[in-house]
Amino acid sequence: MIGSAGARVSITGLGCHVPDKVVTNDDLSQVLDTSDEWITTRTGIKERRVAAQEEALSDVAMPACLTALEQAGVEPAELDLIIVATVTPDMTFPSTGAILGDRLGAPDAAAYDLSAGCTGFMYALAQGYGMLAGGLSKRALIVGGDLLSKLLDWKDRSTCVLFGDGVGAVVLQAVDSGGFLAFELGADGGGGANLWLPGSGSRHFEEPDSLLRMNGREVFKFATRVLVSSAEAVLDRCGLTADDVDVYVPHQANVRIIDHAVNKLGFPKEKVVVNVDRYGNTSSGSIPLALADAAASGLLRPGSLVLMTGMGAGLTWGSALMHWTNSTNGAST
Ligand SMILES: CC(C)(COP(=O)(O)OP(=O)(O)OC[C@H]1O[C@@H](n2cnc3c(N)ncnc32)[C@H](O)[C@@H]1OP(=O)(O)O)[C@@H](O)C(=O)NCCC(=O)NCCS
Repeated sequence: MIGSAGARVSITGLGCHVPDKVVTNDDLSQVLDTSDEWITTRTGIKERRVAAQEEALSDVAMPACLTALEQAGVEPAELDLIIVATVTPDMTFPSTGAILGDRLGAPDAAAYDLSAGCTGFMYALAQGYGMLAGGLSKRALIVGGDLLSKLLDWKDRSTCVLFGDGVGAVVLQAVDSGGFLAFELGADGGGGANLWLPGSGSRHFEEPDSLLRMNGREVFKFATRVLVSSAEAVLDRCGLTADDVDVYVPHQANVRIIDHAVNKLGFPKEKVVVNVDRYGNTSSGSIPLALADAAASGLLRPGSLVLMTGMGAGLTWGSALMHWTNSTNGAST
């Protein structure tokens, strides 16, 4: 799916939160046959956050949501929509969206979860945009986050070193200027078994273990391909090129995947947001966490042309192109 935005809708508030516990590569090398040198060279990851046993997604999400709402100047009770992009909800049902709606105090909000792997935040942004542009919503809270540590096989060195826990949240509102320009989203279920959680749903498996399994080489090939093709498609749709982009926010899975896309697309390093070294791959939390870092470092300014591209389980991918607003002054309603 690809489409240009009509109505002016933008991000007016942004927040993120990660669990306190830091697990370094050296920590992992104490319990696994791995090393800081291997993990750093192959992935760029140095450390990741890991949630405590008693922490669920909604617990880590709450501070992110409150920061995003405060920045947007929106009271929780004013929300009419909450979408949570995740593959690690508190439980299968009720949705973490509904749980957050209750905890925040948003009784008038429609609330649900969305599953699109690490691309979830991009899908949720597009859905939220559509709800506002179609007139169904005025103030939407879009949450992207995962606690993948809960699904990892901590004995499998080829997967457990890659992922970390974290959540980001944004508020979407109509604005007078700037906002989303276009979205491109896609899925290839044929590649689904390259990154999956067998035995986690209604499909019977002889030996379900409900732990994340991945064919790393196939996912690497897929990721390098779609990061480039999706970015090119959404730019082309808007009659823009990579030269026009001020800030590039790729999914933070592996620095080698990011470097490949950056080289192919031709972005100078100073326009590229990278924090995979500190958080690992936080799945649906990755892009909002990277946005928050870019905002904190002053890279994101009102009017900046921002390109975000995610990819992940499904297999799925998705891009959004927008002019940054991130200011309550810009909100028109
Ligand atoms: C997982 C990934 C880092 C592996 O890197 P790679 O260069 O492809 O490495 P390979 O899979 O070829 O493995 C090379 C060797 O390292 C070993 N190895 C794997 N993980 C290791 C680890 N943590 N520490 C040390 N050795 C490791 C393998 O067992 C293999 O050993 P062998 O040659 O004796 O069989 C890489 O494929 C990748 O990043 N894929 C994409 C994953 C991803 O981003 N998924 C999420 C998408 S949202």
